[in-house]
Amino acid sequence: MSEDKLQGASASQTYKRLFAFTRKYLLAFVVAIFANLVYAVIDGVFIEAMAPLIDEGLFKKDSSFLIIAPVFVITLVAVRSIASFVSGYLMGWVGQNVVADLRQKVFAKYMQLPASYFDTHVSGDMVSKLTFNAEKVAITATNAITVIVRESGFLIYVLISMLMKSVFLTLLYLISLPLIAIVVRAATVRFKDASSSMQDAMGDITNISSEAISGYRTVKVHNGQQQISSIFNGAVRQFRNKFMKLVATKNASSPLVQFFAATGLSVVLYFSLSEVQSGKLTAGTFTAMVFFMMAILRPLKQLTSINSQIQSGLIAAKSLFDVLDLENEKDEGTKMLENFKGYIRLKNVSLQFPSRSEKAIDNFSFTCQPGQIIAIVGSSGSGKSTLLNVMMSLYQPSSGTIYYDDIPLKEISLTSLRENIALVSQHVTLFNDSIKNNLTFGLTREVDDNEIINALEKAHALEFVNRLPLGVDTRVGDGQSTLSGGQRQRLAIARAILRDSPLLFLDEATSALDSESEEKIQAGLEEVMVNKTTFVVAHRLSTIRHADIIIVMDEGRLIEQGSHDELISKQGAYARLYELQFGKKNN
Ligand SMILES: Nc1ncnc2c1ncn2[C@@H]1O[C@H](COP(=O)(O)OP(=O)(O)OP(=O)(O)O)[C@@H](O)[C@H]1O
Ligand SMILES: [Mg+2]
Repeated sequence: MSEDKLQGASASQTYKRLFAFTRKYLLAFVVAIFANLVYAVIDGVFIEAMAPLIDEGLFKKDSSFLIIAPVFVITLVAVRSIASFVSGYLMGWVGQNVVADLRQKVFAKYMQLPASYFDTHVSGDMVSKLTFNAEKVAITATNAITVIVRESGFLIYVLISMLMKSVFLTLLYLISLPLIAIVVRAATVRFKDASSSMQDAMGDITNISSEAISGYRTVKVHNGQQQISSIFNGAVRQFRNKFMKLVATKNASSPLVQFFAATGLSVVLYFSLSEVQSGKLTAGTFTAMVFFMMAILRPLKQLTSINSQIQSGLIAAKSLFDVLDLENEKDEGTKMLENFKGYIRLKNVSLQFPSRSEKAIDNFSFTCQPGQIIAIVGSSGSGKSTLLNVMMSLYQPSSGTIYYDDIPLKEISLTSLRENIALVSQHVTLFNDSIKNNLTFGLTREVDDNEIINALEKAHALEFVNRLPLGVDTRVGDGQSTLSGGQRQRLAIARAILRDSPLLFLDEATSALDSESEEKIQAGLEEVMVNKTTFVVAHRLSTIRHADIIIVMDEGRLIEQGSHDELISKQGAYARLYELQFGKKNN
């Protein structure tokens, strides 16, 4: 990705979109900017006041200054403090609101993206956009705006004041500025490069560590601690080097700018001193001028260093906007699948993953009647899970059509389709929440405790859930993976039972269970399967035998179908599979 430079149209577009996010908080934003301007002006007024203080108060010994000066200082400092608080607080408020909006929008977008996006993107990267990048946008935006308004406000005030005091001296001083501009430009270019490659390096750190942490078992058991640590160390070193490049640029540019400015200052000092000595300038005005000249260095320094911050903030913002611009999962269907009977037809369905040369589903045609149980068998990688994914519309078929109750899948709204589906997938996902909330996840209807107990009972999960410290209120999930694979599967089955939808997909739903538990669940599942069209991917004979139709898949193709007895007497692929898997055990 060429994200290192955000210039021209792309940069101004990003600015505009970012600004659009502040529109909701416009009042606070405007007040904050105003407060910053007040702050800047007061800073200028302080220096400005040097002239009368010295000329009138010190040299002419005007006694009213004894009162005016302290009151003046106290009042201005009080106003400045209030302005500082108001601007800091409001900018922080606007910034955090914008981040919250961005985070919510990007997360909602993630939830809308097609499955193919998740296949091709690392979860660590996606998460770090929500955390690291979003925060960066806020910090940058608040800092940048504060600095720009405050410092350029101050700069303008100072320049006008200086010009009014002495055009000659001011212009003389300003001659040194182009020198500074050259240095600033050089630094900015380097900074942009360094900042974006630093973000990539941070992505590596996140990915490697989150993989190693969630996969800690694999790491430990394979004795891979050293190997993964050295990969991680490499990423950390990369990040450090890139960060140091950034630090070097940042720290070299400010002193350089100051040096050039100071050189200019000393030239001006020479001329202005001679103007004082020849009586053209009062001592007070001279002092104010010198203070102004020195004071200019701060805004210059801040304004030059802010540019790098803005760049990295813009890059972070753009990476979020790029996500927001992605296309959603296709959901063009408008038809509702109401009172779905369970009549399903697949006609010449093929699916080709862009990353693969072979089709994962190859010209697959198949029909089933409502209430039937369809078992899918086939070797690993033959396309069983993919077939279910296509039927759930997680992937769009490259060609062919799927009909639900004679309505083409494309014409059915996704929400309506999925309301009709309960899934127990090959990889059970439990969220970091109570068992109860996991079981009712996604349900729109109210569920009472009895129903939950009932479902747990059917899934043979009640016994172990009751033994957990808080029963159904016990938290489960990835962070607290104390449940066994079989227990997790039983919870997933209970979840599917609660969903009570006309179409049931079970992908190796009982693979992690021993034969005895499986047999017990089988009874519960059979009760659930009544009046439901069920697709089961299974290896166990007990499950397959009950099926009305057995589909045998090989390399994405349907190579055989029929009942157990039909297929056995056919002596084909199923018979061979059966012989291999169950032959010896059952003879
Ligand atoms: N998202 C994807 N992107 C690219 N290829 C994929 C994707 N999902 C699956 N595949 C490939 O499609 C083929 C079928 O995979 P699938 O998961 O459907 O097999 P399966 O029959 O369910 O196997 P198993 O019994 O091991 O679960 C495999 O070659 C797999 O590598
Ligand atoms: Mg599978």
